[in-house]
Amino acid sequence: MRTIIVCNGKNMQPLLRALFVFCCVLLSYACGPAPGPRAVGDDLTDLPLVGLSAEWTSRFDEGDRLFEVPYTAGDGLGPLYIRQACAACHAGGGRGPGFVEKVAQVEGDGVTPVAGQPALPLGHTVRRLMAGGARQPLEAPSQPGLRQSTRVGPAVWAAGAIEAIDERELLRLEAEQAQRGDGVSGRVNRVSYASERSADLAFHGHRKGDAVIGRFGVKARVATLDDFTADAFQGDMGLTSPLRLTEPANPEGLLDDHKPGIDLPLETVQAVADYLRLLRLPARRPAPPEGPRLFEAAGCATCHVPSLTTRADYPVPQLAGVSVQVYSDVLLHDLGACLADGLTDGDATSSEFRTAPLVGLRFSRSFLHDGRAATLDEAVRLHGAEGSEARAAVLAFERLSDQERAALLSFLSTL
Ligand code: HEC
Ligand code: HEC
Repeated sequence: MRTIIVCNGKNMQPLLRALFVFCCVLLSYACGPAPGPRAVGDDLTDLPLVGLSAEWTSRFDEGDRLFEVPYTAGDGLGPLYIRQACAACHAGGGRGPGFVEKVAQVEGDGVTPVAGQPALPLGHTVRRLMAGGARQPLEAPSQPGLRQSTRVGPAVWAAGAIEAIDERELLRLEAEQAQRGDGVSGRVNRVSYASERSADLAFHGHRKGDAVIGRFGVKARVATLDDFTADAFQGDMGLTSPLRLTEPANPEGLLDDHKPGIDLPLETVQAVADYLRLLRLPARRPAPPEGPRLFEAAGCATCHVPSLTTRADYPVPQLAGVSVQVYSDVLLHDLGACLADGLTDGDATSSEFRTAPLVGLRFSRSFLHDGRAATLDEAVRLHGAEGSEARAAVLAFERLSDQERAALLSFLSTL
């Protein structure tokens, strides 16, 4: 029997939105990436943490450059890729405009992944662009039973703070939520460390295959920023490194591109990971009266936890042993069938997502992992459908008076 899923609010029109975002990317490239900090009105992003040493500042600048630069076939781009620069999907450290298209083989209910995914032997990621000798892109196969979805590149300015959060904080929140009995019960994503070897700042010390707690990605599938950076170079650009030795699978079975062997040195991965660590959170604005109280009272703060403590031995002094305000518990929550994408990541199921950090929302033009919400109001309502752990909070949000709801939403824009 087919389950009919009734979702709140209007559903996105994926093709239209994809086309729109694609045009934005073309436009942003036609004009060329603007160097230096990005200004939106009076606001700035893409700035380093305050008070960095000269050495850390030059790491930041080098990583920033490597994050912005478009890679070419001579650098080892391809055989298949999605975009040429990290910044194409994280402009100024912010959200988008670039995105990744995903495809999953699902059961008749449209959301449950088919075991083994036999229709997708080359994986879930669509890679349309070619370099380094490829002649056949990786498109979604055209057959029934496939679910296509989009992931817009999220803002990365909270990355350092998220990596620095003390693991005990995440386990504490997981344990506290398990006791609540009101339907909110997040869990850490336990994943297997994927890097070929540990390149992380010495303190990580993870080896390939170690069980670690995932923090990054919309389903918290990756534990550290070195690992994520290497994964992004490989998966989004076809750039291999000592942490990711193989080119992504492609229809022609190509094992290499125009640059034989490993494409990038370890230092490039590390410099970009350090840039992410050293990126400053956008400045907070004064909160409107009542905003924080309403946020708390509606139950938003259970998942979008306002403040967490970082580990005392995090190697960036500005982020060691401090409180960071990213408004996320970094836990997975089941948001129900409306947001489910048919994809799993580590322990994360089709309908589970990591609580999105809410910092810097005023710089975003679309919301939720696939960009289906065009406004903050829509973003809140769309993650509270039947079956979502956020339902009670979203119902409380909907019960607020118009004035109160406006205060809560304008509070979100100050974070
Ligand atoms: C084609 C678009 C695209 C490109 C290019 C890209 N990213 Fe991403 N990035 C994404 C998407 C989409 C996600 C969410 C992915 C997921 O969960 O699978 C993401 C997630 C991230 C995250 C995790 C953020 C968080 O809050 O969890 C980091 C860090 C990141 N990217 C860094 C990079 C770096 C570094 C590069 C360049 C080496 C890069 N990205 C290139 C689209 C892109
Ligand atoms: C059960 C946990 C939970 C509760 C409660 C919750 N959220 Fe969320 N929220 C999430 C998750 C998980 C996401 C990511 C969804 C996605 O990316 O598709 C999210 C995403 C968002 C986003 C979009 C952020 C972005 O960058 O796209 C906003 C805005 C938001 N929540 C606001 C709220 C507000 C306001 C409340 C209270 C009315 C609330 N949330 C309650 C878990 C929760």
